Amino acid sequence: MAVDLLLGLQWGDEGKGKIVDVLTQDYDIIARFQGGPNAGHTLEFDGIKHVLHTIPSGIFHKNAINVVGNGVVIDPVIFRKELEALEQFDLDIQTKLLISRKAHLILPTHRLLDAASETAKGKAKIGSTLKGIGPTYMDKTGRNGMRVGDLELGDWKEKYRALANKHESMISFYDVDIQYDLAELEAEFFASVASLKDLQFIDSEEYLYQAQKSGKKILAEGAQGSLLDIDFGTYPFVTSSNTTAAGACTGLGVAPNQIKDVKGIFKAYSTRVGSGPFPTELFDEVGETMGRVGNEFGATTGRPRRCGWLDLVALKYAVRINGVTELMMMKGDVLSGFDQLKICTAYHYKGKKIDHLPYNIEAENVTPIYTEMEGWQEDLTKMSEAQQLPKALNDYISFLEKELEVPIKIVSVGPDRKQTIYR
Ligand code: GDP
Ligand code: IMO
Ligand code: MG
Repeated sequence: MAVDLLLGLQWGDEGKGKIVDVLTQDYDIIARFQGGPNAGHTLEFDGIKHVLHTIPSGIFHKNAINVVGNGVVIDPVIFRKELEALEQFDLDIQTKLLISRKAHLILPTHRLLDAASETAKGKAKIGSTLKGIGPTYMDKTGRNGMRVGDLELGDWKEKYRALANKHESMISFYDVDIQYDLAELEAEFFASVASLKDLQFIDSEEYLYQAQKSGKKILAEGAQGSLLDIDFGTYPFVTSSNTTAAGACTGLGVAPNQIKDVKGIFKAYSTRVGSGPFPTELFDEVGETMGRVGNEFGATTGRPRRCGWLDLVALKYAVRINGVTELMMMKGDVLSGFDQLKICTAYHYKGKKIDHLPYNIEAENVTPIYTEMEGWQEDLTKMSEAQQLPKALNDYISFLEKELEVPIKIVSVGPDRKQTIYR
């Protein structure tokens, strides 16, 4: 019995959607274990680009079942829009997409609370996607939440009303001006709940246990990235779930000793969207070039992503916390054309050189120390074999493998499914 994991090692948007789509041919089940529609997972094939928010990235493959696990938070309104975008592709969603009864629901008032909380924070705002993620997980841990399974019970609307009323009084507690028409939001929500109820709700932990027992291959798909983890990320500038490997155990009901491969995915440089510390962030034309060539705009919010050099101190930390067994390096193509590349291998912190992530990595505390490497000029996007990769890129990869002590098994050289090189 075994489950493999795939998760992001940076601040999200590493390319998880693309790689899950590529790997799905080898799996029977793809199971999302945390996060919600704050995620934006991009897949590209046959000249079409798809963005998924809650639906697992194996949905386009006929061979795989896709499970939305108990650790995920679902906004029925966004979920319905995702389903509508998939209608034209004849995917047999009713059979292939299964939803955990224990997944929590994002209510319209959760979204409003998110907006109120962020507005009240002013300059200190998290830079949330405003999808209601924080307030929904707060209700989950506060034992007030509504779950998908509640929709099968007769009294769910009463439960909804009580929770929405509570949220309204909480919104008025914030001293901010949030305009909304609750009747309109609720009409949309109730209509969307009706379409959610057309799907199969399951006891996903039992389903996944039986699937493993009968020899099915399962890949757990993470959202966000390790540095956005509620415990191990750059708190408070994080999301509200455990994005790291342990989150797959709690988010799917998979026991730790059932986890086999942990596939860690990272970009050849760094990006971050939203607020919070980012030691290797660039404010010059190099960062601007990364953003332009890499098309670094949030898949969920469209916001420009902040860009910077690869941070090996942070990456090492993520590799350790997740127990990564193999690595995937994305967007190597975006670094083509730079004469010199930099990799942050240590920080100056309180007058000392350190090579671990300190408690507080705000810019005023931490200055990156870089190792310089030769760049490569070749266009990688048409390459398909490891032997074609330029020497300077191979040196870059070897340096990372030596530092991280984990092999880099996939090098991605473009957004398309086919632009994937196995090593
Ligand atoms: P996710 O949230 O981890 O699934 O990543 P996103 O989809 O939010 O962001 C990754 C972006 O990079 C998407 O626009 C992908 O299409 C794109 N992408 C993925 N891999 C590569 C790659 O190797 N090269 C380039 N140029 N783009 C890539
Ligand atoms: P994927 O799965 C990048 C960031 C937000 C914000 C912080 C908290 O596509 O990699 P939240 O909406 O959770 O309250 O936002 O986390 N964030 C992401 N950044 N990729 C994501 O998901 C993200 N999901 C949340 O920008 O800084
Ligand atoms: Mg994304």
